[in-house]
Amino acid sequence: MPTTISMSIQLHIHPSIDAAIKKVAQEIITLIHHKPDAVLGLATGSTPIPLYQELVRRFKLGEVSFKQVTTFNLDEYQCIDRTHPESYWNFMHRHFFNHVDMLASRIHLPGSRVEPLELARHCQEYEDQIKAVGGIDYQILGIGRTGHIGFNEPGSPMDCRTRRIHLDEITRQDAAPAFGDLLHVPTHAITMGCGTILEAKHISLLAFGSKKAAIVREAMLGPITDQISASFLQKHPSAAFHLDHGSAAELS
Ligand code: GLP
Repeated sequence: MPTTISMSIQLHIHPSIDAAIKKVAQEIITLIHHKPDAVLGLATGSTPIPLYQELVRRFKLGEVSFKQVTTFNLDEYQCIDRTHPESYWNFMHRHFFNHVDMLASRIHLPGSRVEPLELARHCQEYEDQIKAVGGIDYQILGIGRTGHIGFNEPGSPMDCRTRRIHLDEITRQDAAPAFGDLLHVPTHAITMGCGTILEAKHISLLAFGSKKAAIVREAMLGPITDQISASFLQKHPSAAFHLDHGSAAELS
């Protein structure tokens, strides 16, 4: 059984990554059973990949349908085609959308080649689309080495909205292996803002492995600061961290 202690962020320390994934997948499936047109906020990165695999597995067993579900992804790189293997559009289709019964019209990601003159309108439209469907019911998050959620790098205010952001060098270095080398990693992205994310009704942040232990401690127990956007989750009425023993190692 996962350990649950009471504090502003709900803490779940699971015996394994698999147990964490199964728990979060079940929460999402239960939500969809109660609300077939649920709105999900989705994340990329290596951490949620097994979650998407589990949701696909449960779909193939006939246990859940995504036909009426609407999704909004947190972010997208700029200045690459959406068909680029590392675009988040491609990532999401490869790992999830192509394998379930999602309707293309209900899938939303920021554009990957948004012209400067179109930027403000594009970002506002993303916000408006989220509002038009009644907001995000369940938001999945990972956490970057800089403590970012989405691509809200250090300095992102708690009330910031969807916008273009310059990626931190640490974030770009972390992405370099996937892009081949640092030179090929985009310098900018469009991300939902911290304020946008914090409006989700429930938030589940997933972090696994000892490499995440220090930033998880900072986000969960450190000061609420714009230097670590994940620390804003301490203010959310329904945010949960789903950890394994590695990522929880520095909490005691
Ligand atoms: C990127 C994404 C984040 C993600 C982070 C961590 O920066 N924009 O949403 O949380 O990577 O990735 P990983 O799960 O691979 O550690």
